[in-house]
Amino acid sequence: MTKDFLHVDDWDKDTILATLYLAKKIKAKFRARENYQPFAGMTLAMIFAKPSARTRVSFETGFSRLGGHALYLSPSDIEIGKREAIKDIARVFSRYNDILMARLFDHQHIIELARYADIPVINGLTDYNHPCQIMADIFSILEHRGNLDNLKIAYIGDGNNIVHSWLRLASRLPMNFVCACPEGYEPDQPTVKRAIEAGISTIEIVHDPAVASRDADVIYTDVWASMGQKHEFEERKKRFRGFTVTEKLLSLAKPSVCFMHCLPAQREVEVTDQVMESKASIIFDQAENRMHAQNAIMLKLMKMD
Ligand code: CP
Ligand code: NVA
Repeated sequence: MTKDFLHVDDWDKDTILATLYLAKKIKAKFRARENYQPFAGMTLAMIFAKPSARTRVSFETGFSRLGGHALYLSPSDIEIGKREAIKDIARVFSRYNDILMARLFDHQHIIELARYADIPVINGLTDYNHPCQIMADIFSILEHRGNLDNLKIAYIGDGNNIVHSWLRLASRLPMNFVCACPEGYEPDQPTVKRAIEAGISTIEIVHDPAVASRDADVIYTDVWASMGQKHEFEERKKRFRGFTVTEKLLSLAKPSVCFMHCLPAQREVEVTDQVMESKASIIFDQAENRMHAQNAIMLKLMKMD
């Protein structure tokens, strides 16, 4: 068990599966509105250098519904790395709080934050990865399918932080992970290599969405321009032509296919409105499961499971 949760593969397969099982138990308690308050008397500090809807609300609501108090620090409150050194924030916050979550640009900054903090640090997204999202995603797939056997995930779009999270998960849980992206928008090569060399999963990087989608259990997409890249959007829109997830693409997958998106989505850009609203879409279960997966991650990190 690590002190922090910075990458999903910081944890071994058994720990990941135990966390998913715990998320399931917490979700049932939450839905039944049971009086379950393991975080009573505790505080969670949440540092955001980027915007957020789900991450903020799911952490804040989740932590407080389990008895704790969560503090939101907006991009202008701290200006981490600008107004104050990361290693100073890490040690100051460790004196006040029980646990820390941060959403930052530079991945090295979350690593530095964790190194200097005495309390557990959770990665709430960096330019490189988004491990809480991927835990919620695999939990959602498990809920819908009942198992994770012979899983084919087709990711259509930009080789971004979500893809890196899938690749790192694929080095712990077996799957066939296929990423279809335009040339020049592939995921980080060392991360691809590492996933292949782990020898657990089959990894393919292709440039044809139809090839990727064939017989998929899950079709997943994300925005074409991530936070920090929004100025590239018009150019990317041209380069990503043909990568929109449509009903036609979905029809190439298994009849039981689930459509997934971490959200926020740009409807009629990376995915049609029709697909977002289709029976195959499990996007709101995914969003809900952020909260339960994160509560389970926090209980694990604080050895309260
Ligand atoms: N999926 C996700 O992390 O959403 P937010 O950017 O709204 O937090
Ligand atoms: N790739 C997106 C994910 C948002 C949750 C971004 O980084 O903006």
